[in-house]
Amino acid sequence: METKEVLRSRRSVKVYDPNRKVTDEQLTELFELTTLAPSAWNFQHYKFIVVRDPDQKKKLRKAAMGQEKVEQASATIVVCGDLAAYRRARRVAEEFADKGFYGPDGDSKVEEQARMMRDTYVNDPQKARDEALRSSSLAAMSLMVAAKDMGLATCPMIGFSPEAVREAVDLPEELFPAMLISLGYEGDFNLDRCARLPLSEVVDIDRYGESFQPQS
Ligand SMILES: Cc1cc2nc3c(=O)[nH]c(=O)nc-3n(C[C@H](O)[C@H](O)[C@H](O)COP(=O)(O)O)c2cc1C
Repeated sequence: METKEVLRSRRSVKVYDPNRKVTDEQLTELFELTTLAPSAWNFQHYKFIVVRDPDQKKKLRKAAMGQEKVEQASATIVVCGDLAAYRRARRVAEEFADKGFYGPDGDSKVEEQARMMRDTYVNDPQKARDEALRSSSLAAMSLMVAAKDMGLATCPMIGFSPEAVREAVDLPEELFPAMLISLGYEGDFNLDRCARLPLSEVVDIDRYGESFQPQS
């Protein structure tokens, strides 16, 4: 499918066919595409937990305000932000140097760059959380777009208790649930998409308050 068509036709699908399963081959392609999403310093501040065991789905549904699609879809993915992604700083700095991002004498900068990246997050927990939420959310959107292109349906969800989700899937301290995404084959879902705000309301040019005038 053409990218524009994927974006136009993607929906937050609320009803799934419970009999059609997503295979590991499909998951492999899906996550290969998803992890191509950009992330700050390529730290990949995320972890995806694919919940498909019926008992696990039941627990997750309970944690997600009872939303039926959590159990009905082939899987529900817990998209987690990683607050300790800075542990990858050294590896990232080494690869940046290898690939020439630090210029010709890149090797000499690895130590300093790795420390700088690590300290940025260790010294600023709010930044670590913001970054994890941003990078995991960008990956989540890539996942939904890739899924659509593969003929699969998704729905992002924030209707859940973070503590209950943590408990349901045994999340360690450094991970937090950023969102859930149901994944499967569309069932009998026929609600029209809700309207979007006019571009003049959501796009300004140069500074706040100077509305963009869309051209037809
Ligand atoms: C961050 C986020 C959280 C959402 N949470 C839920 C949710 O808990 N349950 C649900 O059914 N839909 C949820 N939605 C889906 C929105 O309702 C949906 O994206 C919006 O109405 C636009 O519909 P569309 O994606 O089909 O165009 C969520 C969407 C986003 C982006």
